[in-house]
Amino acid sequence: MANIGVMGTGYVGLTTAVCFSELGHKVVGFDIDTKKVEMLTSGTSTIYEEGMSELIVKNLKIKNLVFTNTISHITDCDFVFLCVPTPQDSDGSADLSYVIKAAKDLNGILKKNAILVTKSTVPVNAWKDIVIALDRKDVTIVSNPEFLREGTAISDFFHPDRIVVGSNNLDKAQEVANLYQQEKVATIVTDNSSAELIKYASNSFLAIKLTFVNEIAALCEAVGANANDVLQGMGQDSRIGSKYLQPGPGWGGSCFPKDVRALRVTAENNSINMTLLSAALDSNEKTFRRIADKVESELGNSLIGKNICVWGLAFKAGTDDLRDSPSVAVIERLIGRGATVIAFDPVIKSANIKSLKVVKSIEESYEAADAILLLTEWEEFKQINPESIKGRLKNLILIDTRNVLDRQNWVNSGFKYIGNGW
Ligand code: UGA
Repeated sequence: MANIGVMGTGYVGLTTAVCFSELGHKVVGFDIDTKKVEMLTSGTSTIYEEGMSELIVKNLKIKNLVFTNTISHITDCDFVFLCVPTPQDSDGSADLSYVIKAAKDLNGILKKNAILVTKSTVPVNAWKDIVIALDRKDVTIVSNPEFLREGTAISDFFHPDRIVVGSNNLDKAQEVANLYQQEKVATIVTDNSSAELIKYASNSFLAIKLTFVNEIAALCEAVGANANDVLQGMGQDSRIGSKYLQPGPGWGGSCFPKDVRALRVTAENNSINMTLLSAALDSNEKTFRRIADKVESELGNSLIGKNICVWGLAFKAGTDDLRDSPSVAVIERLIGRGATVIAFDPVIKSANIKSLKVVKSIEESYEAADAILLLTEWEEFKQINPESIKGRLKNLILIDTRNVLDRQNWVNSGFKYIGNGW
């Protein structure tokens, strides 16, 4: 078992620290945020992630896991994972300042011959800047991007599709892969630059795939085809695959939009015009607009004075994350066109969106509504009985942008059910 340090206990860092401790490693999670460290040390998760609190409590208790804001506590670690944020800069590129600062701070801290593992999503060749900032010839830099999805991060950590490790020292890269104890999982051992690019290429490809899905849904609506059947038919082709083929109100979250933009900047800086990236970003904006248009056209082509009940604020189910949420993008458009929007989300209880009212119970959300608009695919919404709510609404109109509700059930209760692409 190894001694592992994790710099940064945000979403990625916390999952990494907790899951490595669960595998039996001794893990020190470092963060500059004292409040966060206090909370984690008391056994409370700082992120909304299924199963996280239980694993924190368990591994704190058996002393496989400690949290600290004293950086010198990681001096005994053989592996230190950089998990600090790389937010989007004003030009769309990734802001590396936290990564560089952390590397500089580690100069006098890292053990001799330690391995510094970059897990933060960094643009291709950022490892070269990290080498310079760290300024330690004895330390090997291994790039080990993460592929965790919010909401299923713990399960993704223990059951990955692949492990990617990149370094100029392939043996050290393999040592990092071995920490995961996943002998049967495909491991790609490569150079630093390729490992860094695999992350952006994967996220951008998925975003492009979803863009195509949403465009097919729009086309199905226009020509009277059924997007669910069309996409299912496509997905059965093993070259296409059935995952990431679900239409929605547009794709979002803290990663896809940021990574697509950052990859575009990298390409531009290298005189490569990756036209698909720009097209995907533009098309995604059009999807937000298309959803707002659907609501408007169902309500007599005007949203002025109309009450829209929105179900779901999070960018997808299973998370409390509002960052780049398609729900927010659609809601802003509805409010901009004169609608009154009342939103309910099972986990998000407030949102800083001008004129938006977020209610605490689902019952408050549909009172006198002109239409219901489902934007996030929470299980809770699938349990709602249309019979029991229909007396409270002004109009029986339901727009399901995720195609997750039972159309027949809603139609039988007198609702006009409007799906996405069918
Ligand atoms: C994404 C990647 O899937 C992870 O592999 C990666 O590690 C992570 O970014 C990251 O870079 O840290 P995440 O942002 O948690 O994970 O979200 P996803 O589950 O991939 O969903 C992204 C967006 O696509 C959401 O808005 C979701 O609703 C949408 N989506 C996804 C669809 O509209 N349809 C689908 O079929 C799947």
